[in-house]
Amino acid sequence: MNEAIRPGSESALEADVAPQLSVIVPTFNECDNVTTLLRRLETALAGTAWEVIFVDDNSPDGTWNVVRDLARRDGRVRCIRRVGRRGLSGACIEGILASSAPFAAVIDADLQHDETQLPKMLALLRGGEFDLVIGSRYIEGGSADSFDRQRAGASAFATGLARRVLRVKIADPMSGFFMIRRDRFEQLAPQLSTQGFKILLDIVATAGGHLRIKEIPYNFAARLHGESKLDSIVALDFLGLVLAKLTHDAVSLRFLLFATVGSIGILVHFVGLFVALRAFHLPFTAAQGCGAFSAMTSNFILNNFLTYRDQRLSGLALVRGLVVFYLVCSVGLAANVGVAFSVYDQEPIWWLAGAAGALMGVVWNYAISGLFVWRRR
Ligand code: GDD
Ligand code: MN
Repeated sequence: MNEAIRPGSESALEADVAPQLSVIVPTFNECDNVTTLLRRLETALAGTAWEVIFVDDNSPDGTWNVVRDLARRDGRVRCIRRVGRRGLSGACIEGILASSAPFAAVIDADLQHDETQLPKMLALLRGGEFDLVIGSRYIEGGSADSFDRQRAGASAFATGLARRVLRVKIADPMSGFFMIRRDRFEQLAPQLSTQGFKILLDIVATAGGHLRIKEIPYNFAARLHGESKLDSIVALDFLGLVLAKLTHDAVSLRFLLFATVGSIGILVHFVGLFVALRAFHLPFTAAQGCGAFSAMTSNFILNNFLTYRDQRLSGLALVRGLVVFYLVCSVGLAANVGVAFSVYDQEPIWWLAGAAGALMGVVWNYAISGLFVWRRR
């Protein structure tokens, strides 16, 4: 017999009925928090048919293993262990789509969100008046006291930008704590970005005013164990989302980053060329080769840390990636020069020919290194 329906368990009756609420918990290195969270959910949701789905990105600390243990003893617990992927938004989307209850909630594993608000959120959705209920830190009664000043400032800035640029009217679009009707979510899911971490902002911006939203206050507590995974680089994710939504997905942040890194590479090229000529007195062709080599190397390193930080290569894969990147860029350079020549042949305007060649080069390098250097597994 399933332990969850053993006699005497308070969930004996609930386990037989289909869950009304699926609670989705994205996790990365939260092994010390998940058991406590489960216990708290149990208390908060007593009397409701619920299930919890942990979506773990193969945490090095073995969070998925702890969740598996919990799931073996409790039929309401499930674990999705994702390999070769990282990302908060993607994890939440996958978790919601892997469940079937009419309502789905997203809550952090680290107990910073207030799980005792879940019954209230569920009641609001069940009332039929709303499609989405958001746990908000920035309305009367809510707070984020655990934020340091820098984090509070960044959060306020991002919130302001989202509200102005994307015309998102809610007080806390950066919240990671919300509950949504399944039917609404399933409609929006194909348009959501799986990269980054601003899933709520994405949902609200994508719906474009078609969701009936209610915000309720809660107190954003301090983390129980472990540390935040949101480093300062997530600001880039946020800008990427704003950009994608503004341009209806025409401009990808990844491509912009790749092109920016490429522009920095031009500077590096000139520095390399200069040093080789002046300091090492190399002949021009050799010096030019040194410049190109330094530029490709620095482009590779920057792209690995910035553009493809979610698929960052390390160890042997890093060496292999670097070699393939050299090859890709060499072909890109040939394409660049070839296109520039043929444009110049037709229309001898140096900057037009140069720009056409450079564009050809960067598009080639971007497309091919996405396929062969930082390929998705
Ligand atoms: N599966 C998966 N993959 N989970 C992740 C990943 C990932 O790449 N990165 C983070 N998580 C999980 C964490 O384990 C945690 O349960 C939750 O997502 C939130 O991550 P934190 O690292 O605790 O984020 P935070 O507390 O700094 O940020 C919170 O506040 C922000 C608002 O300021 C989150 O709730 C954000 O969603 C929210 O925007
Ligand atoms: Mn947190």
